[in-house]
Formats: sequence, structure tokens, C-alpha cells
Amino acid sequence: MSASVTVRVPAKVNVQLAVGAARPDGFHDLANVFLAVGLYDEVTVTAADELRVTCDGPDAGQVPLDRTNLAARAAEALAVRYGRTPDVHIHIAKDIPVAGGMAGGSADGAGALLACDALWGTGASRDELLDICAELGSDVPFSLVGGAALGTGRGEKLTTLEVGGTFHWVFAMADRGLSTPAVFREFDRLGAGMDIPEPLASQALLDALAEGDPDALAAAVSNDLQPAALSLFPELADTLAAGRAAGALTALVSGSGPTTAFLARDPESAAKVAEALSVSGTCRTVRTASGPAPGATVLG
Ligand code: C5P
Repeated sequence: MSASVTVRVPAKVNVQLAVGAARPDGFHDLANVFLAVGLYDEVTVTAADELRVTCDGPDAGQVPLDRTNLAARAAEALAVRYGRTPDVHIHIAKDIPVAGGMAGGSADGAGALLACDALWGTGASRDELLDICAELGSDVPFSLVGGAALGTGRGEKLTTLEVGGTFHWVFAMADRGLSTPAVFREFDRLGAGMDIPEPLASQALLDALAEGDPDALAAAVSNDLQPAALSLFPELADTLAAGRAAGALTALVSGSGPTTAFLARDPESAAKVAEALSVSGTCRTVRTASGPAPGATVLG
């Protein structure tokens, strides 16, 4: 058994996020089409006397280092199942924006789970790991799997999707975060008294992914949480407009936001959109990334 294992885990963008009415348990049924993109956190676990989390990277100061961190909870959940103590130091090299709607916390949960599984030699099956991921959070199973997938239920029941090409994205990070529960609450408030349809995946969107066609994908993307995110963070409309004006094929809020996502036709166009957003004064930082990207991967 090696003394240390590092796992690389991707961020995600939701190319479709259809949201149903609030369920009795407070969650919402979703048709959630995830695409993993090449922005990564790296999670390293090392045998230690007791569970401890550290983090570095531009947003590290906003990451909780206590037992509420999904990486710590993942180590504890696996340890409980295998009757051992979660005696590891978890270090997160964070490159995914924090509280940004790109599943950064979920990525760390999936990464720590896979890393502890390898470090401890538990030999858990893929299904067992996916069950633990689903207990940790709605987006965590997708962080393990990567690629592209349709998530139903609260987003945790995954069906892998075929993707026929590479999609080029630009992401604009905002100068503050948005809380996912707060955005869902705002969705409920905005929809109060309205008839909210059952969430269904768009066939046009699934076809666009399968064909690798950026124009068709741009025409089909949708995010039912976007009005709620804009209601809580109205300045995001300026960021979306700046990216559209710079030639993005489409612009949308990523998941519950506030990161905004811009689809470009090719890497050159993505670079132009990124440059225009950087000087627009409407966001904190800008990154380009393409997808699909692989799920959680042991680096060694
Ligand atoms: O599953 P996760 O812990 O990531 O969810 C965070 C919060 O987002 C939940 O507590 C809930 O408020 C909201 N949520 C929801 N419906 C979902 C997923 C998340 O209402 N399908």
C-alpha cells in the first residue's frame, strides 16, 4: 500500500437543468444534463494520525476545513463502511471555483472517496462508491463518473450520454458565491402558485451532444435555475450580455451559479470571448475549458 494517493476530479457545467416542483423532502426532481469540463481539483490523501483537511489555490480561504467539507465526509463514510478510522490528511489543490455552480465541493467529495479507497485498499465496487457519493450530495456521483450524463431523481441517478465531439467553453467567475439551497428557495418563491411541469431531458439537446454540434447545443441549452440566480445576483445579466456580444454561441448560468458559462464554436473563438470578458469589468476571473472531461482519476 502506498502512503499517499492523488486523484484528479473535473468541474461540471449543466447544459440542461430542468427543475420540478419541491418534493416533500425539500429536494427537487431534476432532469440534469451534466458535462464534465477540464478544470480540475486534485485531492491527495496521506496516512495520518487523525482526519485533517488542508487546501491551497486562489479560493482556498473560502473552503471549510472542518468535518463539513465533503472530502472529510467522504473519508468518514468509507471508513464507517469498512470498520476503520478515517485517519488521513486530505489536501485539496483547488482550481474549481468555490460556491460557483461547477460542483467544486462535490468534486472534492468524489476525489477523496476514490483516493481513500485506493489508499486503504478497500476494494469497494463502483456501485458501492456511487451509493456513497449519492449519500454525500446530488452532484457527487457525476463527479466520480465524468464525461456527460443525464441525472434524474435529485440528480444522483445517472445515465451516461454519448458525446460526438469536443465543446469549447469560457467560464466567468463572479466576485462572490451563491448558496445552492438559497437559489432553490428562490426558484420556489418565483414559481409559487404556478404549475411546474415534470422535468424532462430535451431530445434536441441530447442529439446535439451526440453529434458534437455546438450550434445545435447552443440552441438547446437551458437552466431553470437561471431566473432565480439572476434574481439573487442581478449583475450576472451584464456578464451574460458581455459574453454574447463577444461572439459566444450562447451564455447561461452554470447550475445554481454564479459562474456564467459561454459556449464557443472553436478554441480561437473561446479565446476571443475570454479576452473580451476579462476586460469587461463584469467578472472576477475568466477561464477556458473544454468538455467532455474524464471523471475522478487516480494519478498515483
Ligand atoms: O444534494 P446537495 O447536498 O448538493 O444539495 C444541496 C441543496 O440544494 C439541498 O439541500 C437542496 O436545498 C437543494 N437541492 C434541491 N434539489 C436537488 C438538489 C439540491 O432542492 N435536486
